Amino acid sequence: MLTLHAIPALRERLAAHRRAGRTIGLVPTMGNLHDGHLALVAEARRRADVVVATIFVNPMQFGPGEDLDAYPRTLAEDQARLEAAGCDLLFAPDEATVYPRGLAAQTRVSVPDVAEGLCGGARPGHFDGVATIVTMLFNLVQPDVACFGEKDYQQLAVIRRLVADLHLPVAVVGVPIVRAADGLALSSRNGYLSDAQRAVAPRLHQTLVELSQALEAGEAPAAALATGLARLREAGFAPDYLELRAADLSPVVETTREAVLLVAARLGPTRLIDNLSLTLP
Ligand code: PAJ
Repeated sequence: MLTLHAIPALRERLAAHRRAGRTIGLVPTMGNLHDGHLALVAEARRRADVVVATIFVNPMQFGPGEDLDAYPRTLAEDQARLEAAGCDLLFAPDEATVYPRGLAAQTRVSVPDVAEGLCGGARPGHFDGVATIVTMLFNLVQPDVACFGEKDYQQLAVIRRLVADLHLPVAVVGVPIVRAADGLALSSRNGYLSDAQRAVAPRLHQTLVELSQALEAGEAPAAALATGLARLREAGFAPDYLELRAADLSPVVETTREAVLLVAARLGPTRLIDNLSLTLP
């Protein structure tokens, strides 16, 4: 696997692949890779001739007081994992390469509606940062397909919307959440948890499972969500939100069948997110 840090080298290399008629699959990440990320690489491997992963801890998507400085940077281990997963090229630029004029002077991409509420409400500006870096990576790599995890459900919706609105010629593929054996969704942020918190963390997924069973059995959403919030608080979480939305993140209405439960909750300083799709009766 080749690792490149500079834009001209990346463009040159990708142009050669394109001239040879090869399709390109992209997997954008912030590194500290786990099996969830590697499932995206495997999906890209199935769908494209050349797999490009990117690692960039994007300062634009972190708010003040968030974990930008603490975010784990593990390039050597990540390179070994990507190589073993069949990745062909890693693009790992530094901040000055991505934002040469600095963050404040940077052109931004802003996606309305779907980026509002949920994590967009709890983390103002976060999805502008995600939409901007993903648009930039699409422009740099010009992939035929790009893989994103359903773990970040709203992020995937934001990216689908920006691709549609800007008429970008890339197929966006959503990949199911990879979980630990006890149900906890794999996340780079799980490494922040103490042993005691790690033991509590699977309650997040369990609560969604219990809630979805209650909803599928016909319980009223408001009552079910109130019970869910109470259970999370009892377990020791400080929830940011627990919501039921239609699968496209629009509000649930009488005729909604395909729906999704979405949760963000803090365990100590660590913010965890999860979601579960369900069919309403
Ligand atoms: P990061 O958190 O590193 O995640 C990179 C990709 O891995 C995202 O598409 C995310 O949804 C996916 N992913 C993470 N955990 C997963 C799991 N347990 N199962 C399946 N997929 C999982 O998301 C970002 O980085 C950034 O916002 C990024 C898109 C790279 C833009 O900076």
